Amino acid sequence: MLERLQKIISAAGVTSRRASEALILNGQVSVNGVVVTELGSKADPTKDTIMVDGKSLKISAQRLYILLNKPPGYITALKDGQGRPLVTDLLKEVPERVYPVGRLDYNTEGLLLLTNDGDWANRLMHPRNEIEKEYHVRVRGKVIDQQLKRMAEGVVLEDGKTAPAVVNLVKSGEQNDWISVAIHEGRNRQVRRMCEAVSLSVVRLKRIRYGSLMLGTLRAGQFRYLSDSEVRELSGEPEKSMPATPVAHHKRETHQKSIRPERSGGKVSGRRQQ
Ligand code: URA
Repeated sequence: MLERLQKIISAAGVTSRRASEALILNGQVSVNGVVVTELGSKADPTKDTIMVDGKSLKISAQRLYILLNKPPGYITALKDGQGRPLVTDLLKEVPERVYPVGRLDYNTEGLLLLTNDGDWANRLMHPRNEIEKEYHVRVRGKVIDQQLKRMAEGVVLEDGKTAPAVVNLVKSGEQNDWISVAIHEGRNRQVRRMCEAVSLSVVRLKRIRYGSLMLGTLRAGQFRYLSDSEVRELSGEPEKSMPATPVAHHKRETHQKSIRPERSGGKVSGRRQQ
């Protein structure tokens, strides 16, 4: 089937749709030996030989969608100059090369999606879709309501103010509190920097939800394939009205307070729920 070249290139996991357009315009793409520089050009990925920078595009017939429980101490890049463990080291039995959807820091753990479907990954990461990601954060010492409220309303970071977030106190221990932070932006080290901005020191950071998808009971280092309906649901309509944290999850926690920003008379204010 004929498809637009930029779609074929991004679906092969080479780069995003927009960056694929730049490759075409720069004359870096050829179809059956002929350099193509027009953006509307189409090709048949099953019949034509498509090359990017002289390398044949590897079109995988099999689309794979994986949920990994990333342990701390693994990097989400595909190689590392310092020789640190890679998340792909945990996926040795996966038959195709897969790429992380976004990134988690070296020491962040939890839900990481990987795929060889570049288009799907781009849809998930597009800011327009505002997919909510939820993290559990163990912080040193005790949190106070004011800190949660400030994070919920948005804190000023060096790359601008963060969008309103949903912030809960989920568990109170002797030495540490656990909070949950749900955000739909995907800035670098965002949760850690939001915590720093309100003087909270992060001891542990774990992603437990991506849109409608929960990490569930997978052990650290384990992965599973997503079902067709999970794949479709994740890339479907924007999920702006997801509940902050599914009720079933909250039931297991104690001392739960929820602080979510609320517009009242044009002003953002915190609201606490018991
Ligand atoms: N926010 C962070 O600070 N780190 C991550 O790995 C993910 C979100």
